[in-house]
Amino acid sequence: MSTLQLWRTPAEVRAWTAAARARGQRLALVPTMGFLHDGHLALMREGAARADAVAVSVFVNPAQFGPREDLSRYPRDVEGDLAKCASVGVAGVYLPDVATVYPPGYQTSVDLEALTTGLDGASRPGHFRGVATVVTKLLALFRPEVALFGEKDYQQLQVITRLNEDLELGVDIVGLPTVREEDGLARSSRNVYLDVDERRRATALSRGLFAASARAAAGEADAATLTRLIRVELEAAGAREDYVAVVDARSLAPLTALTPGVPARALVAAFFGGTRLIDNVPLLLRAP
Ligand code: PAJ
Repeated sequence: MSTLQLWRTPAEVRAWTAAARARGQRLALVPTMGFLHDGHLALMREGAARADAVAVSVFVNPAQFGPREDLSRYPRDVEGDLAKCASVGVAGVYLPDVATVYPPGYQTSVDLEALTTGLDGASRPGHFRGVATVVTKLLALFRPEVALFGEKDYQQLQVITRLNEDLELGVDIVGLPTVREEDGLARSSRNVYLDVDERRRATALSRGLFAASARAAAGEADAATLTRLIRVELEAAGAREDYVAVVDARSLAPLTALTPGVPARALVAAFFGGTRLIDNVPLLLRAP
């Protein structure tokens, strides 16, 4: 196996992508903030199946954290991340520092409209501007054939799909299902913030979502009934709800009822102690 490359600057990335393209390789990109887990590795493996070389970026992007969020304590483990990337055959990792991505004088950002007003966009002002900006920069820098993202961050996936179309970047944006722990909790770098009791209670998220998705599959169309199934679990677990929503799977517009054959999504964000976790599932109403 060839050794993992490390790039610190856009010039180093461009030298590699140019050489890879000259060899006729199709490139896949997996953007991350590091502290890699099985969810991230699933994206890399799928990238390897869809392209000839996989690049990963590890960058804790300050632009997507609010002033009272967890930027300064976001977990990091660069050595571990590099070993994990090497173990799944990644070609190279882009590890820029903040001043490389946002040098003095930097002033360009990417803003989306309706898709970012609700859900995490409402709770985390400026978050999606930060995400959309850094992902646009990464897609423009690598110009990959394929870029892979998780459904775990479902609104983010829709935002990236949209900006790729709107800006005509021409990347194949691939979304992959959420990788979970055995008890259903979605894998997340932020799960390390949970103490033992919070970790146990956090299964309420997936339990509520799975209940809602099963009930929809059994024919329940009413969004209020479905959200109540999720809220019951959050309350029993002593979680503080941020939002529980049933939305159209593409536009993320709130729904009052599911329609047979029209993809919908249930999304939740809740606090366990000081830790905010998100999760979501597809909802497909059984045809009558
Ligand atoms: P991060 O949270 O590190 O996630 C990187 C990618 O891994 C995202 O596409 C995310 O949806 C995916 N992912 C996270 N947990 C997952 C899970 N349990 N199963 C499947 N995929 C999962 O999301 C970001 O970083 C950043 O916002 C980023 C896109 C890199 C921009 O800074």
